[in-house]
Amino acid sequence: MSEVRYGVVGTGYFGGEIARYLSGLGGARVVAVHDPEFAEPVAQEVGARVVPSVEELCQDAEVDVVIVASPNWAHRDAVLAAARAGKPVFSEKPIALSYADCAAMIDATARAGVLFMAGHVMNFMAGVRHAKRLIGEGAIGDVLFCRAIRNGWEEPQESVSWKKRRDLSGGHLYHHIHELDLVQSIMGSPETVTMAGGNVAHDGPQFGDEDDLLLITLEFPGQRFAALEYGSAFRWPEHYVLIQGTLGAIRIDLQDTGVELRTPGGSQRFLLHRSEEEDADRTAIYRGSSTDGAIQYGNPHRRPPMWLRGIIEEELTYFHGLVQGADALPEFAALTDGSAATASIATADALTRSLREGRKVAVAEVTAVVVGSNA
Ligand SMILES: NC(=O)c1ccc[n+]([C@@H]2O[C@H](COP(=O)([O-])OP(=O)(O)OC[C@H]3O[C@@H](n4cnc5c(N)ncnc54)[C@H](O)[C@@H]3O)[C@@H](O)[C@H]2O)c1
Repeated sequence: MSEVRYGVVGTGYFGGEIARYLSGLGGARVVAVHDPEFAEPVAQEVGARVVPSVEELCQDAEVDVVIVASPNWAHRDAVLAAARAGKPVFSEKPIALSYADCAAMIDATARAGVLFMAGHVMNFMAGVRHAKRLIGEGAIGDVLFCRAIRNGWEEPQESVSWKKRRDLSGGHLYHHIHELDLVQSIMGSPETVTMAGGNVAHDGPQFGDEDDLLLITLEFPGQRFAALEYGSAFRWPEHYVLIQGTLGAIRIDLQDTGVELRTPGGSQRFLLHRSEEEDADRTAIYRGSSTDGAIQYGNPHRRPPMWLRGIIEEELTYFHGLVQGADALPEFAALTDGSAATASIATADALTRSLREGRKVAVAEVTAVVVGSNA
């Protein structure tokens, strides 16, 4: 494909930025957008037509490839519509709000023979890529344990975003699937999981109904473990991923931005993003703010900060290359073979069941239901 003509579903905070970036990328053009509320300004900015429905956008003869950046609950139907139209599709995270939906999306795109990429953008942070390379080379030995924490505080809101409603976003765990995906990309899928927590400090009309405090444990084969913490009931915000191995450890710091490798031989620090400037941009935003990311980032009237635009560029350039016929890179293969999306959502569903039923849950309890069916 020499010039790729994109259609974008959902042109709010993130979809609008994706459309802007693609419209300036060589060999790419945004020809159509669909958004029930915010299509017009982005359409004008990028020179695209506004299309009245997702189905029409996918069936549009001018659209070669579909980008899905609508709210989380709406991803499934848009991806299925793209598969029906036989078009490659990129979907924002979380891919779906249940394993069954996720499996149906992977199945539909595979049957249609079209590329389907999961928008797990954290994989495109330069420091995350470097950390994974170091781990692959054995720099910290065998990974025994990961700890991932992403928490902050939510003040009362004038209007409650869809991101704070469990039925629309999935709540913290699904909406911020990045850390779970990263841990699993390093350690594989857990066998059993537990989750405790609840909505402990955000009840009432100025809040959504998501759980604001989630404490997670994951148990992997071979006596390896992970602990994750998510939420918006934490006055002392923390955001990091710590990977502990037999020979050393790596800490990915998403607040005091940077990555550190520690071994008995000493310590090395490297950038999380592409430049000192992008790392400093991120640090400046997080220092002095305890606001939960789902509020701080993400409404159609704002533009993403420099560091986030940087990883959108990396991610969409990679996707655009695949659409034009480039081979998938091994480090990103899980994003296009369905495994990253299904593995993270399967674990999220098992965790949800653990919280609801008050017990340790095997991830196989979730995956066994769909495997072998035609869902
Ligand atoms: N990868 C990241 O770091 C990251 C960051 C922010 C958002 N996101 C993801 O991007 C997606 C959009 O989030 P956002 O921050 O842009 O939210 P947003 O609220 O700013 O934008 C969502 C847009 O979707 C539109 N919309 C509502 N229903 C729709 C439908 N049925 N079809 C098409 N459009 C519809 C809304 O009018 C709005 O303009 C979400 O899935 C979110 O998880 C990812």
